[in-house]
Amino acid sequence: MFASRTLFALSTLVVSAFGATYTQTDSHQGSGFLKSFTHQAIADPTHGRVNYVDQTTALAQNLTFSSGDHFVIRADDTTVLSASGPGRNSVRLQSNKQYTTHVTVWNIRHMPQGCATWPALWEVGADWPNQGEIDVLEGVNDQSPNQSTLHTSSGCSMPASRSQTGTSGSNNCDVAATNNAGCGVTANKANSYGPGFNNAGGGWYAMERTTSFIKVWFWSRTDGSVPSDVLNGATSINTDNWGTPYAFFPSQSCDLNSHFGEHNIIINLTLCGDWAGAVFNQDGCSGNCVGKHSRRAPPTWAHPLIATRLCIPDFVNNNPSAFTNAFFDIQWLKIYG
Ligand SMILES: *[C@@H]1O[C@H](CO)[C@@H](O)[C@H](O)[C@H]1NC(C)=O
Ligand SMILES: *[C@@H]1O[C@H](CO)[C@@H](O)[C@H](O)[C@H]1NC(C)=O
Ligand SMILES: *[C@@H]1O[C@H](CO)[C@@H](O)[C@H](O)[C@H]1NC(C)=O
Repeated sequence: MFASRTLFALSTLVVSAFGATYTQTDSHQGSGFLKSFTHQAIADPTHGRVNYVDQTTALAQNLTFSSGDHFVIRADDTTVLSASGPGRNSVRLQSNKQYTTHVTVWNIRHMPQGCATWPALWEVGADWPNQGEIDVLEGVNDQSPNQSTLHTSSGCSMPASRSQTGTSGSNNCDVAATNNAGCGVTANKANSYGPGFNNAGGGWYAMERTTSFIKVWFWSRTDGSVPSDVLNGATSINTDNWGTPYAFFPSQSCDLNSHFGEHNIIINLTLCGDWAGAVFNQDGCSGNCVGKHSRRAPPTWAHPLIATRLCIPDFVNNNPSAFTNAFFDIQWLKIYG
């Protein structure tokens, strides 16, 4: 009796002392991001009306700016674009390091806001979808869903009922079965996205990836329940003390080890494109943000006016001032292993 009780007490102690305790492996702040992340001047696979620029261009145009604990990346907000030229200059960053099991904590002051914006903080492997994708924070046009999503190959699904505060959409994470949507969970927390997030002074997003689950939490800037290790960016954290996550993705019907590989962390800001463009008007934005055709020339048979209406996201081209608040201001990003 005594022995088994001791054993029980010991194993409880071991779990709480080591089970979810992590040590900081990377701390990114201010100009440190310039060394640990690479600007990717690539075409947007989701057909946004953006032109991702390299680091030299981004710094020269002040689309990437760092000072103290401010790391700012933004879309250009001064240039009127030619309908036949490239999209609006913007920034896409990829971490130089790759991660498997780890915890990321993002301390964000401001996120991109405005019609047509489609910002994302996410992680993905080189072989998509076989190595999986974890979207920590993603949304469009200032609207909910403030969504965290897994995207995988076939054979990965989530139980309908699970311990999370958010609301699940599809529980099938397979991109082929869900028209790329994956299994998303929306945060039922006020101020978790867009203008609400910014007006509250931002907050913290955290993601924990283990071999048996992936969890995502959000705390707004003035949320009294933010754990002190998150608040302070502590060198050691214990995720057991963080409470119920808003998104919980257990391995029950998804072998996380075979569906998720080495991931890079990506920060991107696209405009219009497949998602933001498709719901632009329904989200209360006016103008044309159709992204699918933005990189294609108008069909030769079309009258120039009709072609413009049909194919050009003129909202992005003609309204640079609409993007004044289309920026991330990141205070720090800490990674734990
Ligand atoms: C931007 O982020 C979202 C992440 O959810 C992704 O679907 C999209 O492909 C990304 N675009 C680029 C160009 O990285
Ligand atoms: C560059 O951007 C930062 C952050 O938005 C701003 O504080 C700074 O004044 C800008 N610098 C110039 C030269 O515009
Ligand atoms: C998303 O965030 C907004 C702004 O903070 C909030 O009003 C809305 O309720 C959130 N949506 C969901 C589904 O949580």
